[in-house]
Amino acid sequence: MKKDLILILDFGSQYSYMIARRIRDIGVSISLCNYNISISHILSIKPKGIILSGGPFSVYDNGAPLISKNIFQLDIPILGICYGMQLISFLFGGKIKKSKYKEYGKSYFIIDHFNNNLFYEIPIKSVVWMSHCDEIKNIPKKFQIIGHTSSCSIASIMHLNKEIYAVQFHPEVKNTEFGISILKNFILRICKCTKKNWDLNNFVKNSIYKIKKRVNKKKVILGFSGGVDSFVTAYIIHQSIGNYLNCIFIDTGFLLKKEKERISFLCKKMNFSVKIIDAKNHFLSRLNGIIDPEKKRKIIGKEFIYLFQKESEKIKDVEFLAQGTIYSDIIESSSRNNQLSHFIKSHHNVGGLPHYTFMKLKLIEPLKKLFKDEVIKIGKKLGLPEEILYRHPFPGPGLSIRIIGEINEKKISILKEAESILLQELKNYNIYNSVSQAFIILLPIKSVGVMGDKRTYEYVAVLRIINTEDFMTATFSHLSYDFLEKISNRIINEVDGINRMVYDITSKPPSTIEWE
Ligand code: XMP
Repeated sequence: MKKDLILILDFGSQYSYMIARRIRDIGVSISLCNYNISISHILSIKPKGIILSGGPFSVYDNGAPLISKNIFQLDIPILGICYGMQLISFLFGGKIKKSKYKEYGKSYFIIDHFNNNLFYEIPIKSVVWMSHCDEIKNIPKKFQIIGHTSSCSIASIMHLNKEIYAVQFHPEVKNTEFGISILKNFILRICKCTKKNWDLNNFVKNSIYKIKKRVNKKKVILGFSGGVDSFVTAYIIHQSIGNYLNCIFIDTGFLLKKEKERISFLCKKMNFSVKIIDAKNHFLSRLNGIIDPEKKRKIIGKEFIYLFQKESEKIKDVEFLAQGTIYSDIIESSSRNNQLSHFIKSHHNVGGLPHYTFMKLKLIEPLKKLFKDEVIKIGKKLGLPEEILYRHPFPGPGLSIRIIGEINEKKISILKEAESILLQELKNYNIYNSVSQAFIILLPIKSVGVMGDKRTYEYVAVLRIINTEDFMTATFSHLSYDFLEKISNRIINEVDGINRMVYDITSKPPSTIEWE
């Protein structure tokens, strides 16, 4: 029997994959596609519901992504989110306007009309997450307003005779208090999806069986990063084929202190080996004099691929390239190719080597259908140490994007020392596991200080500690002054080169988590 499926049409929102994530959590399969797939394609996959995502456009923009009105004739329930709501309204003849106030972040949503399934058992007033510049001015005929916020009088609408609903806020973002319940109402009550068809049980057993059968004593290479995706991928493949797996770890020189040793130790503990390539000088020379963050990122990505390729060619008879790709990586690179989402940063992801470089190799991506927290659950089932499972994320370009501006050996060593002190204190204060990510940024600015009666003139460093569910939105962590003071004192006293610490109190958006 065909599985119940929800189709998400992506109009370029930074949050589209979060919609997918939430629905998978509810236990229903999803397909996330470009907004412009054909009606016949939609009919062929037989979705039980369609979600139109948000996006960075205004419906009146030149080249704004639109869909055929025929989608409303399919008799499939539809939920529009943010841009999706404006689009529904526009296509039915409503009017859109620029909001008087751009609205980003927390708002209070008031339900105006309870007699609908979307807001079944949702309280009359709740916190929602808004992120928009446009809003509906006049609703189209046959629609009804079902909710508002203080600055947006039309924050939710529904069709009077069809199962078409829309919300201006983002129910997929955790900061929306009843977002998951609203999505559940849409998927289970309105679309009537009943079959829970997504289940992690048996995942490992099946993966090991499939990999063993497919690889059949041929060699596999894996670009190893030391993150949880990498460890879980390596562990599953090693369980399947033992030493036919060859892990390569490239030390860019932008790693945390003792990272190499940590990785060697953990791999030994888990009985597989990793070849470590020392490429510190290679990367440092390529980044000499580079200031622009995007240039840095691009150079690192390119050099990484070059070195990985060179190393992998030394291993004879390799047939497979394994990657720690997870579902969010796939969504990023496939549905995002539609050029709709605004470009923020080019990520260098060790687990995501471009396959065109290794065309002759067949891909193994055991985690490609999983989201991060599912990978962690699997890692837990496999008995991986907590140190791996709950390690804060560390970006592929590493410390290079935490040294703002030009990079040199001295700055790397200053930052490594400062980051190491931060890590020790996060653990001493038992804070590490209650924050999502914590790190230091070294600014290219010097300030005057005084130490033991002597004038100092040294770098300013920033402490960035955030809490987040999904790394798409984040808030700075509200930590005690005692802890902040301890970090500042220790870093300034123990790290030669920093004489001032500041705490970053911005959230994401409008800032990003890393500074470059
Ligand atoms: P931003 O700075 O975009 O970061 O708010 C969101 C999360 O992604 C991490 N990050 C990266 N991870 N390669 C990675 O593997 C990268 O190039 C990269 N850049 C940022 C960042 O640390 C945060 O967890």
